Amino acid sequence: MSDAYSVPHPLTHPATTPLDLGAFPAGFAWGTATSAYQIEGAVAEDGRAPSIWDTFAHTPRAVDNGDHGDTACDHYHRWPTDIALMKELGTDAYRMSIAWPRVLPGGDGPVNAAGLDFYDRLVDALLDAGISPSVTLYHWDLPQALQDRAGESRGGWTERATAEHFAHYTSVVAARLGDRVRDWATLNEPLCSAWIGHLEGRMAPGWTDLPAAVRASYHLLLGHGLAVQALRAAVPGARIGLVTNHSTIEPATTRPEDLAAAVRADGHTNRWWLDPVYGRGFPDDMRELYGVELPDRSGDAEVIAAPLDWHGLNYYFPVTVADDPAGPVPYAREVPRPELPRTGMDWPVDAGGLEALLLRLTEEYGVRRLYVTENGSSFPDTTGPDGRVDDPERTAYLEQHLSACARALRKGAPLAGYYAWSLLDNFEWAYGYDKRFGLVHVDYATQRRTVKASGRRYADIIRAHRSQAR
Ligand code: FCB
Repeated sequence: MSDAYSVPHPLTHPATTPLDLGAFPAGFAWGTATSAYQIEGAVAEDGRAPSIWDTFAHTPRAVDNGDHGDTACDHYHRWPTDIALMKELGTDAYRMSIAWPRVLPGGDGPVNAAGLDFYDRLVDALLDAGISPSVTLYHWDLPQALQDRAGESRGGWTERATAEHFAHYTSVVAARLGDRVRDWATLNEPLCSAWIGHLEGRMAPGWTDLPAAVRASYHLLLGHGLAVQALRAAVPGARIGLVTNHSTIEPATTRPEDLAAAVRADGHTNRWWLDPVYGRGFPDDMRELYGVELPDRSGDAEVIAAPLDWHGLNYYFPVTVADDPAGPVPYAREVPRPELPRTGMDWPVDAGGLEALLLRLTEEYGVRRLYVTENGSSFPDTTGPDGRVDDPERTAYLEQHLSACARALRKGAPLAGYYAWSLLDNFEWAYGYDKRFGLVHVDYATQRRTVKASGRRYADIIRAHRSQAR
């Protein structure tokens, strides 16, 4: 029998190439992902203090439609329903994040027991449901108190102290959950925290300050390394990783200027984040381009390069660039690729980028265990008169990207799991609630959840893999 998996396609779009399920090893983790601020709501409950995202979202015009995470998917109260949905999808892994301002409302200082209790209950319930939690410690919700604590610089991640506080917070969470949680990630997408938050101003804290952004990038990676140490000390047997987002970068033409722009964009998007973590230090060409002195101290490089057990890749889209000498750092302008389909985020779709990046992490950086920690697509879904949500584009995106995983596996990428972004439609940062990434639709007026066709397809794939791998 062939490994190929194909079910009669219940949707209107043409079926894609059958998925090579035999490429996925037995024990492959099939998961979904979310993050605390995007789903929890209950922002002022049980002692939680504001994070920089509460502040940013409540800043006029920062987020589309004036949306914010005050209620979001109300997951703080509806988590039993959400775990039931994970079971319905047949997933056996769940990537979630912990809200630092629930656990240590002041960033450091007293622990808020009620905040830890929430995650304690959640982890127990996941394990009871046969779903293994993969916990991310920082998915962008820095306690506002630390943002406001300017010392040697402008506060927040521009301060070395924030990296140290992050390690302390990590120890507190690890001491409570480490007996049950095996998979830990320190940061989610430090690129977005640093570049989008401090340089482009489109995410919290909303700054456009290159020196601050470079300092933040440094302290985020230092905080990552210190948190790895804290986890190793607190949780023997922990499997520790870092989650970074990447894009393949193509030059728009073969002009030398565009080729050079692609090297800069690759440095900004990929090498700046991977080279130091894999022991190569921050790339010289980018240090020169930024022209900002790093706040480095002796010994930091080794901390940042602490050995990891796995790497988490978040992949959404490829990038094509042209030289843009008058533009902002890195002087590379994104150019459209009209031949590629686009999602509701206006992101181009190319699953080949996922395959290429998995192989790059394997071959160039020597990663020995990989996860796709996020991958997914937003489209403007409509609910049919029968209450169903048919989302053929999202289904196709999912199938194409799983096929890319299969190809990378066949070529030797040590891929151990895939977490679809996202379990639920949720608060999509500066885009608010209009952008829907869920495999499960959320009606925000009623908080009613409906598994979309893409979610049913994911469930079919998981079931087929399990019966084949048995
Ligand atoms: C990633 C974020 C995640 C989600 C997706 C669409 O950059 O990590 O929270 O917003 O994009």
